[in-house]
Amino acid sequence: MRDLVPAQKEMFRHIEDLVRSILSAYGYREVGLPALEMTQLFARLVGESTDIVEKEMYSFQDKNGESLTLRPEGTAGCARLAQDNGLIFNQTQRLWYSGAMFRYDRPQKGRYRQFEQIGAECFGMEGPDIEAELLLMNWRMWKALGLEGHIRLEINSLGDGKDKQKYQNALVVYLADFKQELDEDSQRRMETNPLRILDSKHQRTREILDAAPQMTDFLGNASEQHFAQLCEMLDSHALPYVVNPQIVRGLDYYNRTVFEWVTSDLGAQAAVCSGGRYDGLVEQLGGRPTPGVGFALGVDRLGLLLEASFTSSDAADVFVVSMGEAARLQALVIAEELRDALVNKKVTVHCGGGKLKAQLKKADASGAKLAIILGEEEIASSTVSIKTLRESQAQIALAREKLGDYCTRYFHTG
Ligand code: HAM
Repeated sequence: MRDLVPAQKEMFRHIEDLVRSILSAYGYREVGLPALEMTQLFARLVGESTDIVEKEMYSFQDKNGESLTLRPEGTAGCARLAQDNGLIFNQTQRLWYSGAMFRYDRPQKGRYRQFEQIGAECFGMEGPDIEAELLLMNWRMWKALGLEGHIRLEINSLGDGKDKQKYQNALVVYLADFKQELDEDSQRRMETNPLRILDSKHQRTREILDAAPQMTDFLGNASEQHFAQLCEMLDSHALPYVVNPQIVRGLDYYNRTVFEWVTSDLGAQAAVCSGGRYDGLVEQLGGRPTPGVGFALGVDRLGLLLEASFTSSDAADVFVVSMGEAARLQALVIAEELRDALVNKKVTVHCGGGKLKAQLKKADASGAKLAIILGEEEIASSTVSIKTLRESQAQIALAREKLGDYCTRYFHTG
Protein backbone atom coordinates (compact mmCIF):
# COMPACT_ATOMS: atom_id res chain seq x y z
CA MET A 1 0.00 0.00 0.00
CA ARG A 2 1.31 3.41 -0.88
CA ASP A 3 2.25 6.13 1.62
CA LEU A 4 1.75 9.67 0.39
CA VAL A 5 4.02 12.29 1.97
CA PRO A 6 2.74 15.91 2.10
CA ALA A 7 4.29 16.97 -1.23
CA GLN A 8 2.63 13.99 -2.98
CA LYS A 9 -0.68 14.54 -1.25
CA GLU A 10 -0.60 18.20 -2.28
CA MET A 11 -0.08 17.14 -5.87
CA PHE A 12 -2.98 14.67 -5.63
CA ARG A 13 -5.13 17.48 -4.24
CA HIS A 14 -4.07 19.75 -7.11
CA ILE A 15 -5.12 17.08 -9.65
CA GLU A 16 -8.39 16.41 -7.85
CA ASP A 17 -9.28 20.10 -7.61
CA LEU A 18 -8.81 20.63 -11.35
CA VAL A 19 -10.60 17.42 -12.33
CA ARG A 20 -13.45 18.10 -9.91
CA SER A 21 -14.09 21.58 -11.29
CA ILE A 22 -14.16 20.25 -14.86
CA LEU A 23 -16.56 17.42 -13.93
CA SER A 24 -18.80 19.99 -12.32
CA ALA A 25 -18.67 22.21 -15.42
CA TYR A 26 -20.01 19.26 -17.46
CA GLY A 27 -22.87 18.67 -15.02
CA TYR A 28 -21.51 15.55 -13.29
CA ARG A 29 -22.61 14.96 -9.68
CA GLU A 30 -20.50 13.29 -7.02
CA VAL A 31 -21.48 10.08 -5.24
CA GLY A 32 -19.82 8.37 -2.29
CA LEU A 33 -19.08 4.69 -2.86
CA PRO A 34 -18.54 2.21 -0.04
CA ALA A 35 -14.97 0.90 0.17
CA LEU A 36 -16.33 -2.63 0.69
CA GLU A 37 -18.83 -4.52 -1.42
CA MET A 38 -20.01 -8.11 -1.50
CA THR A 39 -17.36 -10.18 -3.29
CA GLN A 40 -20.07 -11.52 -5.58
CA LEU A 41 -20.67 -8.06 -7.08
CA PHE A 42 -17.16 -7.86 -8.53
CA ALA A 43 -16.99 -11.56 -9.39
CA ARG A 44 -20.16 -11.28 -11.47
CA LEU A 45 -19.70 -7.88 -13.07
CA VAL A 46 -15.94 -7.55 -13.52
CA GLY A 47 -15.80 -11.23 -14.53
CA GLU A 48 -14.72 -14.50 -12.85
CA SER A 49 -11.87 -15.10 -15.30
CA THR A 50 -10.36 -11.61 -15.22
CA ASP A 51 -7.00 -10.98 -13.52
CA ILE A 52 -8.71 -8.65 -11.07
CA VAL A 53 -11.13 -11.30 -9.80
CA GLU A 54 -8.83 -14.29 -10.17
CA LYS A 55 -5.73 -12.86 -8.56
CA GLU A 56 -6.02 -9.32 -7.32
CA MET A 57 -8.91 -8.91 -4.91
CA TYR A 58 -8.54 -8.33 -1.19
CA SER A 59 -11.39 -10.51 0.02
CA PHE A 60 -12.26 -11.69 3.51
CA GLN A 61 -15.15 -13.04 5.49
CA ASP A 62 -16.82 -10.69 7.96
CA LYS A 63 -18.15 -11.81 11.33
CA ASN A 64 -21.36 -12.86 9.65
CA GLY A 65 -19.54 -15.20 7.29
CA GLU A 66 -20.22 -12.96 4.25
CA SER A 67 -17.44 -12.65 1.72
CA LEU A 68 -16.56 -8.97 1.28
CA THR A 69 -13.99 -7.32 -0.99
CA LEU A 70 -12.13 -4.04 -0.82
CA ARG A 71 -13.22 -2.35 -4.05
CA PRO A 72 -10.72 -3.00 -6.86
CA GLU A 73 -12.58 -0.51 -9.11
CA GLY A 74 -15.58 1.80 -8.99
CA THR A 75 -17.88 0.95 -11.91
CA ALA A 76 -19.59 -2.08 -10.36
CA GLY A 77 -20.18 -0.24 -7.07
CA CYS A 78 -21.43 2.90 -8.82
CA ALA A 79 -23.91 0.94 -10.95
CA ARG A 80 -25.12 -0.87 -7.82
CA LEU A 81 -25.48 2.44 -5.98
CA ALA A 82 -27.43 3.98 -8.87
CA GLN A 83 -29.69 0.92 -9.14
CA ASP A 84 -30.28 0.54 -5.37
CA ASN A 85 -31.11 4.23 -4.94
CA GLY A 86 -33.52 4.56 -7.84
CA LEU A 87 -31.26 6.86 -9.86
CA ILE A 88 -31.51 4.94 -13.09
CA PHE A 89 -35.10 4.16 -13.97
CA ASN A 90 -36.46 6.53 -16.63
CA GLN A 91 -33.73 9.08 -16.21
CA THR A 92 -30.21 9.88 -17.28
CA GLN A 93 -27.35 10.32 -14.84
CA ARG A 94 -23.84 11.70 -14.97
CA LEU A 95 -22.11 10.61 -11.77
CA TRP A 96 -18.55 10.71 -10.48
CA TYR A 97 -16.60 9.38 -7.53
CA SER A 98 -13.07 9.38 -6.21
CA GLY A 99 -11.14 7.32 -3.76
CA ALA A 100 -8.76 4.50 -3.07
CA MET A 101 -9.00 1.24 -5.00
CA PHE A 102 -7.23 -1.95 -3.93
CA ARG A 103 -5.61 -4.62 -6.09
CA TYR A 104 -3.14 -7.29 -5.05
CA ASP A 105 -0.73 -6.49 -7.85
CA ARG A 106 3.06 -6.56 -8.11
CA PRO A 107 3.96 -3.08 -6.86
CA GLN A 108 6.28 -1.03 -9.06
CA LYS A 109 6.49 2.54 -10.32
CA GLY A 110 2.95 3.50 -11.35
CA ARG A 111 1.41 0.26 -10.07
CA TYR A 112 0.34 0.11 -6.46
CA ARG A 113 -1.83 -2.09 -4.26
CA GLN A 114 -3.73 0.96 -3.04
CA PHE A 115 -4.19 3.62 -5.68
CA GLU A 116 -6.45 6.55 -6.25
CA GLN A 117 -9.03 6.78 -9.03
CA ILE A 118 -11.41 9.49 -10.11
CA GLY A 119 -14.17 7.89 -12.14
CA ALA A 120 -17.26 9.04 -14.00
CA GLU A 121 -20.22 6.84 -14.95
CA CYS A 122 -23.14 7.83 -17.16
CA PHE A 123 -26.41 5.94 -17.28
CA GLY A 124 -29.30 6.01 -19.71
CA MET A 125 -27.50 7.36 -22.79
CA GLU A 126 -26.97 5.01 -25.69
CA GLY A 127 -25.51 7.21 -28.43
CA PRO A 128 -21.89 7.94 -29.25
CA ASP A 129 -22.42 11.60 -28.24
CA ILE A 130 -22.00 10.84 -24.53
CA GLU A 131 -18.77 9.00 -25.33
CA ALA A 132 -17.51 12.00 -27.29
CA GLU A 133 -18.44 14.22 -24.34
CA LEU A 134 -16.49 12.03 -21.91
CA LEU A 135 -13.43 12.06 -24.15
CA LEU A 136 -13.62 15.82 -24.71
CA MET A 137 -13.88 16.25 -20.95
CA ASN A 138 -10.79 14.06 -20.44
CA TRP A 139 -8.95 16.10 -23.04
CA ARG A 140 -9.86 19.30 -21.21
CA MET A 141 -8.49 17.75 -18.01
CA TRP A 142 -5.12 16.94 -19.57
CA LYS A 143 -4.91 20.47 -20.94
CA ALA A 144 -5.76 21.96 -17.54
CA LEU A 145 -2.99 19.84 -16.00
CA GLY A 146 -0.53 20.85 -18.72
CA LEU A 147 -0.21 17.22 -19.85
CA GLU A 148 -1.78 17.27 -23.31
CA GLY A 149 1.58 16.66 -24.99
CA HIS A 150 2.19 13.54 -22.88
CA ILE A 151 -1.08 11.65 -23.24
CA ARG A 152 -2.68 10.23 -26.38
CA LEU A 153 -6.00 8.56 -26.99
CA GLU A 154 -6.50 5.02 -28.30
CA ILE A 155 -9.99 3.73 -29.03
CA ASN A 156 -11.58 0.52 -30.21
CA SER A 157 -14.97 -1.13 -30.49
CA LEU A 158 -15.70 -4.55 -29.00
CA GLY A 159 -19.06 -4.70 -30.73
CA ASP A 160 -22.13 -6.07 -29.03
CA GLY A 161 -22.33 -9.41 -27.21
CA LYS A 162 -22.78 -11.46 -30.38
CA ASP A 163 -20.03 -9.65 -32.31
CA LYS A 164 -17.65 -10.12 -29.41
CA GLN A 165 -18.45 -13.84 -29.27
CA LYS A 166 -17.97 -14.30 -33.02
CA TYR A 167 -14.64 -12.55 -32.87
CA GLN A 168 -13.56 -14.57 -29.87
CA ASN A 169 -14.35 -17.80 -31.72
CA ALA A 170 -12.35 -16.68 -34.74
CA LEU A 171 -9.42 -15.72 -32.53
CA VAL A 172 -9.42 -19.10 -30.79
CA VAL A 173 -9.52 -20.94 -34.13
CA TYR A 174 -6.57 -18.86 -35.38
CA LEU A 175 -4.53 -19.24 -32.19
CA ALA A 176 -5.15 -22.98 -31.91
CA ASP A 177 -2.53 -23.56 -34.62
CA PHE A 178 0.09 -21.78 -32.50
CA LYS A 179 -0.97 -22.97 -29.06
CA GLN A 180 2.38 -24.50 -28.07
CA GLU A 181 4.23 -21.29 -29.00
CA LEU A 182 2.07 -19.00 -26.85
CA ASP A 183 3.22 -17.94 -23.39
CA GLU A 184 1.86 -19.91 -20.47
CA ASP A 185 -0.68 -17.28 -19.40
CA SER A 186 -2.08 -17.01 -22.92
CA GLN A 187 -2.37 -20.80 -23.22
CA ARG A 188 -4.47 -20.78 -20.08
CA ARG A 189 -6.54 -17.86 -21.39
CA MET A 190 -7.41 -19.84 -24.53
CA GLU A 191 -9.77 -21.69 -22.20
CA THR A 192 -10.80 -18.95 -19.77
CA ASN A 193 -10.70 -15.53 -21.45
CA PRO A 194 -9.26 -15.61 -24.99
CA LEU A 195 -9.67 -11.88 -25.71
CA ARG A 196 -7.20 -11.06 -22.95
CA ILE A 197 -4.48 -12.78 -24.98
CA LEU A 198 -4.45 -9.58 -27.04
CA ASP A 199 -2.96 -7.86 -23.97
CA SER A 200 0.03 -10.21 -23.77
CA LYS A 201 3.44 -8.54 -23.64
CA HIS A 202 5.24 -11.80 -24.54
CA GLN A 203 7.30 -11.32 -27.72
CA ARG A 204 6.42 -14.53 -29.59
CA THR A 205 2.77 -14.20 -28.64
CA ARG A 206 2.81 -10.64 -29.98
CA GLU A 207 4.31 -11.81 -33.28
CA ILE A 208 1.59 -14.44 -33.60
CA LEU A 209 -1.05 -11.82 -32.83
CA ASP A 210 0.21 -9.56 -35.62
CA ALA A 211 -1.54 -11.74 -38.18
CA ALA A 212 -4.59 -12.55 -36.02
CA PRO A 213 -8.12 -11.63 -37.12
CA GLN A 214 -9.07 -8.05 -36.18
CA MET A 215 -11.99 -7.20 -33.97
CA THR A 216 -13.04 -4.35 -36.27
CA ASP A 217 -13.84 -6.90 -39.02
CA PHE A 218 -16.41 -8.60 -36.81
CA LEU A 219 -18.57 -5.65 -35.83
CA GLY A 220 -22.25 -5.88 -36.64
CA ASN A 221 -23.88 -3.02 -38.56
CA ALA A 222 -25.18 -1.20 -35.49
CA SER A 223 -21.84 -1.31 -33.67
CA GLU A 224 -19.97 -0.32 -36.78
CA GLN A 225 -22.21 2.69 -37.33
CA HIS A 226 -21.95 3.68 -33.65
CA PHE A 227 -18.16 3.59 -33.81
CA ALA A 228 -18.05 5.50 -37.11
CA GLN A 229 -20.24 8.22 -35.60
CA LEU A 230 -17.99 8.52 -32.57
CA CYS A 231 -14.93 8.87 -34.81
CA GLU A 232 -16.72 11.55 -36.82
CA MET A 233 -17.52 13.51 -33.65
CA LEU A 234 -13.94 13.32 -32.41
CA ASP A 235 -12.72 14.43 -35.83
CA SER A 236 -15.07 17.39 -35.83
CA HIS A 237 -13.52 18.53 -32.54
CA ALA A 238 -10.02 17.85 -33.87
CA LEU A 239 -9.41 15.54 -30.93
CA PRO A 240 -6.49 13.33 -32.03
CA TYR A 241 -6.84 9.54 -31.54
CA VAL A 242 -5.75 6.29 -33.04
CA VAL A 243 -7.91 3.20 -33.48
CA ASN A 244 -6.11 0.33 -31.76
CA PRO A 245 -7.94 -2.95 -32.48
CA GLN A 246 -6.00 -4.70 -29.72
CA ILE A 247 -7.55 -2.76 -26.84
CA VAL A 248 -9.77 -5.30 -25.10
CA ARG A 249 -9.66 -4.01 -21.48
CA GLY A 250 -9.18 -6.25 -18.47
CA LEU A 251 -12.78 -6.16 -17.24
CA ASP A 252 -15.58 -8.22 -18.77
CA TYR A 253 -18.45 -5.74 -18.70
CA TYR A 254 -17.55 -3.72 -21.80
CA ASN A 255 -19.31 -3.68 -25.16
CA ARG A 256 -18.90 -1.36 -28.14
CA THR A 257 -16.59 1.59 -27.44
CA VAL A 258 -13.52 1.10 -25.24
CA PHE A 259 -10.67 3.57 -24.84
CA GLU A 260 -7.39 4.21 -23.10
CA TRP A 261 -5.45 7.42 -22.63
CA VAL A 262 -1.83 6.30 -22.70
CA THR A 263 1.59 7.80 -22.10
CA SER A 264 5.07 6.75 -23.12
CA ASP A 265 6.59 8.33 -20.00
CA LEU A 266 5.78 5.63 -17.44
CA GLY A 267 7.23 2.45 -18.92
CA ALA A 268 4.84 -0.49 -18.78
CA GLN A 269 2.17 1.42 -16.81
CA ALA A 270 1.05 3.24 -19.94
CA ALA A 271 -2.66 3.79 -19.23
CA VAL A 272 -3.45 6.89 -17.19
CA CYS A 273 -7.20 6.78 -17.81
CA SER A 274 -9.41 4.11 -19.27
CA GLY A 275 -13.02 3.24 -19.80
CA GLY A 276 -15.77 2.37 -22.19
CA ARG A 277 -19.36 1.37 -22.68
CA TYR A 278 -21.08 -1.31 -20.58
CA ASP A 279 -24.70 -1.57 -21.72
CA GLY A 280 -25.36 -4.94 -20.05
CA LEU A 281 -24.16 -4.13 -16.56
CA VAL A 282 -27.32 -2.81 -14.94
CA GLU A 283 -29.33 -5.72 -16.30
CA GLN A 284 -26.79 -8.11 -14.82
CA LEU A 285 -27.49 -6.42 -11.49
CA GLY A 286 -31.16 -7.25 -11.88
CA GLY A 287 -32.22 -3.86 -13.25
CA ARG A 288 -33.86 -2.94 -16.56
CA PRO A 289 -31.61 -2.78 -19.63
CA THR A 290 -29.79 0.54 -19.20
CA PRO A 291 -26.97 1.88 -21.34
CA GLY A 292 -23.87 2.86 -19.41
CA VAL A 293 -20.48 4.35 -20.20
CA GLY A 294 -17.65 5.80 -18.13
CA PHE A 295 -13.97 6.09 -17.34
CA ALA A 296 -11.59 6.09 -14.42
CA LEU A 297 -8.34 8.03 -14.30
CA GLY A 298 -5.36 6.98 -12.22
CA VAL A 299 -4.37 9.87 -9.97
CA ASP A 300 -1.08 8.17 -8.98
CA ARG A 301 -0.01 7.91 -12.61
CA LEU A 302 -1.02 11.48 -13.47
CA GLY A 303 0.94 12.50 -10.35
CA LEU A 304 4.05 10.78 -11.70
CA LEU A 305 3.67 12.66 -14.97
CA LEU A 306 3.36 15.96 -13.13
CA GLU A 307 6.19 15.32 -10.68
CA ALA A 308 8.81 17.27 -12.61
CA SER A 309 6.69 20.39 -13.08
CA PHE A 310 4.71 20.60 -9.83
CA THR A 311 6.07 22.59 -6.90
CA SER A 312 4.24 22.17 -3.64
CA SER A 313 3.76 25.34 -1.66
CA ASP A 314 4.39 24.60 1.97
CA ALA A 315 5.97 28.01 2.74
CA ALA A 316 4.43 30.02 5.57
CA ASP A 317 3.67 33.73 5.12
CA VAL A 318 3.81 34.87 8.74
CA PHE A 319 5.66 33.13 11.57
CA VAL A 320 4.91 34.06 15.18
CA VAL A 321 7.60 33.55 17.83
CA SER A 322 7.35 34.19 21.56
CA MET A 323 9.47 34.36 24.69
CA GLY A 324 7.97 33.65 28.12
CA GLU A 325 4.71 32.12 29.33
CA ALA A 326 2.46 35.17 28.90
CA ALA A 327 3.76 35.78 25.38
CA ARG A 328 3.30 32.15 24.49
CA LEU A 329 -0.43 32.39 25.22
CA GLN A 330 -0.73 35.69 23.34
CA ALA A 331 1.06 34.23 20.31
CA LEU A 332 -1.92 31.94 19.72
CA VAL A 333 -4.36 34.83 20.12
CA ILE A 334 -2.45 37.05 17.69
CA ALA A 335 -2.17 34.24 15.16
CA GLU A 336 -5.95 33.73 15.26
CA GLU A 337 -6.48 37.49 14.70
CA LEU A 338 -4.09 37.41 11.76
CA ARG A 339 -5.92 34.46 10.20
CA ASP A 340 -9.12 36.52 10.45
CA ALA A 341 -7.45 39.53 8.84
CA LEU A 342 -5.44 37.86 6.07
CA VAL A 343 -7.10 35.96 3.23
CA ASN A 344 -5.32 32.87 1.91
CA LYS A 345 -2.16 33.42 3.92
CA LYS A 346 -0.45 30.84 6.10
CA VAL A 347 0.23 31.86 9.67
CA THR A 348 2.43 29.48 11.65
CA VAL A 349 3.00 29.74 15.39
CA HIS A 350 6.17 28.42 16.91
CA CYS A 351 5.05 26.01 19.62
CA GLY A 352 7.28 24.57 22.30
CA GLY A 353 9.38 27.52 23.50
CA GLY A 354 13.16 27.74 23.09
CA LYS A 355 15.67 30.55 22.57
CA LEU A 356 14.69 33.50 20.39
CA LYS A 357 17.58 32.87 18.00
CA ALA A 358 16.53 29.26 17.45
CA GLN A 359 12.92 30.32 16.92
CA LEU A 360 13.92 32.94 14.35
CA LYS A 361 15.96 30.32 12.53
CA LYS A 362 12.81 28.24 12.25
CA ALA A 363 10.91 31.31 11.06
CA ASP A 364 13.49 31.76 8.33
CA ALA A 365 13.39 28.08 7.33
CA SER A 366 9.58 28.19 7.12
CA GLY A 367 9.80 30.49 4.10
CA ALA A 368 7.74 33.18 5.89
CA LYS A 369 8.16 36.79 4.86
CA LEU A 370 7.33 38.24 8.24
CA ALA A 371 8.25 37.18 11.78
CA ILE A 372 6.09 38.55 14.58
CA ILE A 373 8.05 38.66 17.84
CA LEU A 374 6.37 38.67 21.23
CA GLY A 375 8.49 38.98 24.37
CA GLU A 376 7.90 40.23 27.90
CA GLU A 377 8.54 43.81 26.80
CA GLU A 378 5.99 43.60 23.99
CA ILE A 379 3.39 42.09 26.32
CA ALA A 380 3.98 44.85 28.90
CA SER A 381 3.56 47.62 26.29
CA SER A 382 0.80 45.94 24.21
CA THR A 383 3.02 46.00 21.14
CA VAL A 384 4.50 43.48 18.73
CA SER A 385 7.87 43.53 17.00
CA ILE A 386 7.98 42.79 13.28
CA LYS A 387 10.99 41.50 11.44
CA THR A 388 11.03 41.19 7.67
CA LEU A 389 12.78 37.96 6.78
CA ARG A 390 13.35 38.32 3.04
CA GLU A 391 14.54 41.94 2.88
CA SER A 392 16.85 43.89 5.12
CA GLN A 393 14.71 46.39 7.01
CA ALA A 394 15.14 47.43 10.59
CA GLN A 395 12.91 45.60 13.02
CA ILE A 396 9.92 47.74 13.93
CA ALA A 397 7.60 47.90 16.92
CA LEU A 398 3.90 48.41 16.41
CA ALA A 399 0.86 48.85 18.61
CA ARG A 400 -0.77 45.47 18.75
CA GLU A 401 -4.12 46.59 17.36
CA LYS A 402 -2.39 47.86 14.21
CA LEU A 403 -0.82 44.50 13.35
CA GLY A 404 -3.72 43.23 11.22
CA ASP A 405 -3.74 46.38 9.05
CA TYR A 406 0.03 46.38 8.74
CA CYS A 407 0.13 42.76 7.53
CA THR A 408 -2.79 43.25 5.14
CA ARG A 409 -1.03 46.23 3.56
CA TYR A 410 2.31 44.42 3.52
CA PHE A 411 0.95 41.46 1.56
CA HIS A 412 -1.29 43.62 -0.61
CA THR A 413 1.56 45.74 -1.87
CA GLY A 414 3.81 42.71 -2.21
P1 HAM B 1 -8.90 0.15 -15.11
O1 HAM B 1 -8.28 0.24 -16.46
O2 HAM B 1 -8.74 -1.14 -14.40
O3 HAM B 1 -10.44 0.48 -15.31
O4 HAM B 1 -8.35 1.32 -14.20
C1 HAM B 1 -8.49 2.67 -14.58
C2 HAM B 1 -7.19 3.43 -14.34
O5 HAM B 1 -6.75 3.24 -12.99
C3 HAM B 1 -6.03 2.93 -15.20
O6 HAM B 1 -6.03 3.53 -16.47
C4 HAM B 1 -4.83 3.36 -14.36
O7 HAM B 1 -4.50 4.71 -14.65
C5 HAM B 1 -5.34 3.26 -12.94
N1 HAM B 1 -4.84 2.03 -12.30
C6 HAM B 1 -5.33 0.78 -12.45
N2 HAM B 1 -4.62 -0.09 -11.68
C7 HAM B 1 -3.68 0.62 -11.03
C8 HAM B 1 -2.64 0.31 -10.07
N3 HAM B 1 -2.46 -0.94 -9.61
N4 HAM B 1 -1.85 1.32 -9.62
C9 HAM B 1 -2.03 2.59 -10.05
N5 HAM B 1 -3.00 2.95 -10.93
C10 HAM B 1 -3.81 1.99 -11.42
C11 HAM B 1 -11.35 0.53 -14.30
O8 HAM B 1 -11.06 0.48 -13.13
C12 HAM B 1 -12.75 0.78 -14.80
N6 HAM B 1 -13.65 0.79 -13.63
C13 HAM B 1 -12.82 2.09 -15.56
C14 HAM B 1 -14.19 2.42 -16.06
C15 HAM B 1 -15.06 3.29 -15.50
N7 HAM B 1 -14.79 1.89 -17.11
C16 HAM B 1 -15.99 2.40 -17.22
N8 HAM B 1 -16.18 3.23 -16.25
